[in-house]
Amino acid sequence: MRAMNSRGVRLDKAALFEALGYAPHAGQLEIHRSNARFRVVSCGVRFGKSTLAIYECIAELMAPRAESIGWVVAPTYDLSERIFGRVLSVVNKRLKHRIKLISERDRRVVIVNAGGGRSELRAKSADNSDSLLGEGLDYVVVDEAARLDAAIWHEHLSQRLLDRRGRALLISTPNGWDWFAHLHRRGQKGRDAEVKSWSGASWRNPALDRALIDAERARLSADAFAALYGGEFVGEDPFPCDVCHGPSPDVTGMVMLREDEAVAECRECGKPVNGAGHTLVRREPSGQATFVSITLIHREGCKVHFPPGQPGDGQAGVLIDAGDRERAVVEMDG
Ligand SMILES: Nc1ncnc2c1ncn2[C@@H]1O[C@H](COP(=O)(O)OP(=O)(O)O)[C@@H](O)[C@H]1O
Ligand SMILES: [Mg+2]
Ligand SMILES: [Zn+2]
Repeated sequence: MRAMNSRGVRLDKAALFEALGYAPHAGQLEIHRSNARFRVVSCGVRFGKSTLAIYECIAELMAPRAESIGWVVAPTYDLSERIFGRVLSVVNKRLKHRIKLISERDRRVVIVNAGGGRSELRAKSADNSDSLLGEGLDYVVVDEAARLDAAIWHEHLSQRLLDRRGRALLISTPNGWDWFAHLHRRGQKGRDAEVKSWSGASWRNPALDRALIDAERARLSADAFAALYGGEFVGEDPFPCDVCHGPSPDVTGMVMLREDEAVAECRECGKPVNGAGHTLVRREPSGQATFVSITLIHREGCKVHFPPGQPGDGQAGVLIDAGDRERAVVEMDG
């Protein structure tokens, strides 16, 4: 766990954490170890998210740099205070000799970092967006990120990171298919070299009582449990497939097939695609995905025999077999 700065001085995070008496569990360790510029973590409750955030703040404060400034952000004052308070308590207890300034009122701490430089951390609440104006940042740590409005991330936080090519750690229990889910997805399957994401189930925290988890599993719906404790995004994935780009608003969601034709499936998502590998599945404005395949069955002389009384009985036409849907007849000329 080494983070190198531009002058090649390294911070040994593992040694720092050990000295501070913090033993991250395996799920936390993976995230602490990553050097990705954007780390996005979707976790169940009690995974150890806030603990992870607290010690990342301390590691950032200690990282050897001539000067650094970062923010710890949470949706509300209370939540950001909880993390900042814990950071201050660790600093006060274990890094007292390094303190240059602590201002509880300004929610600000400045210490001398491991390289002798000046490191500052400020606590911010996203419910007060005026407080989010200002400086370029080297890093931002966000707890319960999915409870922040998309605009807070896009217009306030990620903007602050541009000047100094700052880093971000965003941690949250999932909250639907929002901006956080979108960023999380970018961190999967190497889609974006700068983003890495993880999903952490609550039970990865060994300090957690398994019986309690099992009781919750029995009490909640499968989806609610998967989101709240599994840290998973649940429901139909609204993001287009990387390979077939479906579902797509630009297709009709309907395909005509000959009797001997079958619909091909995308190798990535398994949904229907055309011969060129492009999706056949339509994304409706409501978000719903729709797809109907209609097989045209040509009968001898276009004469189709339906049971008496059925529409199309005895008429010439083409039988349309829309899967298990009702059959219909298209009248043919001549
Ligand atoms: N690495 C760890 N070692 C020991 N206890 C931990 C560790 N990480 C988290 N905990 C404990 O687990 C509980 C949940 O952690 P917390 O960080 O509040 O989780 P979350 O923010 O994901 O709900 C807390 O009591 C915390 O002290
Ligand atoms: Mg928490
Ligand atoms: Zn696909």
